[in-house]
Amino acid sequence: MAKGFFISKAVGIVCIVAAVGAVATIIALSVVYSQEKAKNNDSNLQPTKPPPVTKPPGPTTAKPSNELWDKYRLPSNLVPNHYNVTLRPRLTPDASGKYIFTGESSVEFHCAEATNLILIHSHKLTYSPVSNGLLARLTAVNNGDTVPGIESVWLQNETQYLVVQLKGDLTKGNYYILETIFEGELADDLGGFYRSEYTENGVKKVIATTQMEATDARKAFPCFDEPEMKATFDITLIHDLGTVALSNGKEIETTEDTMGDVKVLKTKFERTERMSTYLLAFIVSEFDFIQDNSDDVLIRIFARKPAIAAGQGEYALNKTGPMLKFFEEYYNYSYPLPKSDQVGLPDFPFGAMENWGLITYRETALLYDEEYSSNSDKERIATVIAHELAHMWFSNLVTMRWWNDLWLNEGFATYGEYLGAHQAEPTWNIKDLIVLNDVHRVFAVDALASSHPLSSKEEDIQKPAQINELFDTITYSKGASIVRMMSDFLTEDVFEQGFQTYLKAFAFQNTVYTDLWTHLQMAVDATGTALPQSVNNIMNTWVLQMGFPVVTINTATGDVSQKHFLLDPESVVTTPSPYNYEWIVPMRWMKTGAVQALTWLETKSASIPAMKVTGNDWVLANIDVAGYYRVNYDQANWDKLLNALNTNHEVIPVINRAQLVDDAFNLARAKIIQTVQALETTTYLNNETAYMPWASAINNLDYFYLMFDRSEVYGPMQDYLRKQVTPLFNYYKDLTGNWADVPTGHMDQYNEVNAISLACRTDLQECQELTTTWFRDWMNTGVNKIHPNLRSTMYCNAIATGGAAEWEFAWDKFKNTSIAAEVDKLRIALACTKQAWLLNRYLEYALNPNMIRKQDAMSTIVYIANNVIGQSLAWDFVRARWSYIFSQYGSESNSFPNLINGVTERFSTEFELQQLKQFKADNAEVGFGSGTLALDQSIERTVANIKWIAENKNNVLNWFIAESKS
Ligand code: BES
Ligand code: ZN
Repeated sequence: MAKGFFISKAVGIVCIVAAVGAVATIIALSVVYSQEKAKNNDSNLQPTKPPPVTKPPGPTTAKPSNELWDKYRLPSNLVPNHYNVTLRPRLTPDASGKYIFTGESSVEFHCAEATNLILIHSHKLTYSPVSNGLLARLTAVNNGDTVPGIESVWLQNETQYLVVQLKGDLTKGNYYILETIFEGELADDLGGFYRSEYTENGVKKVIATTQMEATDARKAFPCFDEPEMKATFDITLIHDLGTVALSNGKEIETTEDTMGDVKVLKTKFERTERMSTYLLAFIVSEFDFIQDNSDDVLIRIFARKPAIAAGQGEYALNKTGPMLKFFEEYYNYSYPLPKSDQVGLPDFPFGAMENWGLITYRETALLYDEEYSSNSDKERIATVIAHELAHMWFSNLVTMRWWNDLWLNEGFATYGEYLGAHQAEPTWNIKDLIVLNDVHRVFAVDALASSHPLSSKEEDIQKPAQINELFDTITYSKGASIVRMMSDFLTEDVFEQGFQTYLKAFAFQNTVYTDLWTHLQMAVDATGTALPQSVNNIMNTWVLQMGFPVVTINTATGDVSQKHFLLDPESVVTTPSPYNYEWIVPMRWMKTGAVQALTWLETKSASIPAMKVTGNDWVLANIDVAGYYRVNYDQANWDKLLNALNTNHEVIPVINRAQLVDDAFNLARAKIIQTVQALETTTYLNNETAYMPWASAINNLDYFYLMFDRSEVYGPMQDYLRKQVTPLFNYYKDLTGNWADVPTGHMDQYNEVNAISLACRTDLQECQELTTTWFRDWMNTGVNKIHPNLRSTMYCNAIATGGAAEWEFAWDKFKNTSIAAEVDKLRIALACTKQAWLLNRYLEYALNPNMIRKQDAMSTIVYIANNVIGQSLAWDFVRARWSYIFSQYGSESNSFPNLINGVTERFSTEFELQQLKQFKADNAEVGFGSGTLALDQSIERTVANIKWIAENKNNVLNWFIAESKS
């Protein structure tokens, strides 16, 4: 997901997956049994007419015990070994205007247990007869072996199977081959084999590409579509002259052929390694590429021709080789393929996908343009590449046995983002950012009673929708946080040794998470590392129960205790925990600036005499937030920490300065400390120039803006924050020679943006003049001199203070730019205007696909709602148009939770609560689709906000008044 976008990356992932799933369900209902389309049964993959599919025995005649096809999981009696797949995507529509692909596949499988039923995944494919009018042909690998005849073949829609009922049993131990000929739609649904479009020099171009994970390989060809069903694949793609075909293996040869009277190209690819189906990829495009060799590995970057010509692939090309080498050393395992292709696609459902040997990206996650990309865009590219390359080992080489252990894939890859990006850009200090981007991000959702454990039970994850739901913040960010915590308490060396033997032992195979514990334990035992309990005991407390603890340290007594941290202390936890919500907590801590030995809290409470301090000494725990927990102290220790911040903040490590702010604000939300005490952690900021504490404060103060920017608290709050940010603004003004230079440090570049954003937000006159002048200069001269780092904030603020002229100018640029990074910056900034009529018109544009791409519609409405002036306009708009929005954007219902949360985020009055309830009642018949849960949560949140304001408003107002004057 693009940085700065309003949704979290994992929420975004889940939502998009849900959308694709929703489309899939709708289409599935209509396609399979009505096979009226032309098909073929020859090897040229040309359409002819098929016979009807043989129907399965009706539910009343079939014995329930035999209905294996009603179960979502494959039986284990047949194991695939090798596939031969030929696919031919059509990049021009057929007579009915539909884009299709045709294919032939044969799969060789082993019979592990006798059975008379072959179940193989197939979704939205239609089949043609192979021989004797049958939709599949079965042969034996060994000539002498007998083969049972086929009784019937049918499609089982709900569970997405092609079912082949045999007249007799397959023989245990024998190998068979199943052949099929099929056709599918090359739809623009971003799943399976799909279509992406763009224009180049006014000409429409069509790409055929794939996204298989989690369960869409079955949409491209019939396959045993579960991660444990690893096999090798021989792929051939048939494609038009002038196009390039890519797949996981390297191209062996491209030959010209004639089909009917059409000349085509046939590209064959090298056999793949043993791999899971979700990692397959096929692409046919007119893309160009650049290439390099890193040792024996060929590295290529593919993208639209103009993007390659403009050099936008160079950054990725330069960074990939060294990163790949870094991971080879880190994992102590050579990259096993001869090539690594990376492709930037104009339409892509996620940020990127780790297909083995053919990684796919959305353009903004791969293509870098010096002139248009900010440092944040660059960081995004470095981290996404690192994430996907890390997957080449954790996911591709060693794969989870079933999706319930998805966090092994995504947690390690998310942790790997920081290591790989650090390797690529060692001056960035990027490893620290995991605390803001992942630990803080996931703390927010893992502190809710509705959270869930990192590890799910295998039996609870069956349907595709259940699998897709797992791609969430918990899996990604808690996974990464827990991996980082392990690397810290085991020490990096022991940790590396553990996963290195794990990777070696399970290469090309599958694992469950306890296999990793076993290997880490082996490393612990081999090195004699001291741990209070086994790796298994320690780690299971973090992966098998949801949430995390708040550790309370009483420095007067040395008593330390832990408690499940809940953002709403009144919420009721109904999820049982095998450990009663107690964790085995590794504590790194310091006493008055001096780092102490690692200390463990293994029970609900304990006496740790070393943590008892007197006089001016203080305790600071969870150094660098290496541990996945929050910390609270006795009042005297809090006071000493605040004093340290205000007098000599550098004695507290920078990550912990950010943490003290985040812990304090969250402890206050949970009513463990007073809200004004949390605000006290921001008083030292007028002496702070580091990015992380500022980012942490701004994140937390955002809630105050939402609650108070329409009330009398707003003025004093603005006065206080303006006072706090002015020194930072001046600091950057000096550092950059009056905004002419770019600060050297990556974090400094980020904090420069914070300084400008907050200074303008708090109406610092000089800031507004600055942004207006730069923007006006662009309007007058036609030359944009604003550095890419500053564009988002400068555009937004100039449009906020400006009028129609600024807005129209930005709109014109938005419509006429083809660089994705720039287009997004403009679209977001257009929502910043304070002119109600412009906002209302922009709302109308959002629902007009000629103005705003359909995929961006919902997020544009949310950006408008983020604006205090746009809030009520967006809410009225959504209420008035709900049934239209629901019918038009229901299929992209991925965005409904974000839409509903976005337009109701500020709600904090009884009146708004009534409106929300009324909205729910009025539209009960239309429904809310994937936004149903979000609507209920919004009602709950509004109730909580009303309470919070009642309890805090006066104190907060008085505090801001006093502090803005002091
Ligand atoms: N394996 C995922 C892509 C994916 C996500 C497939 C959801 C199916 C469902 C990929 O490795 C990934 O995690 N991509 C991230 C980017 C990453 C840098 C966090 C994404 O797309 O947001
Ligand atoms: Zn991933």
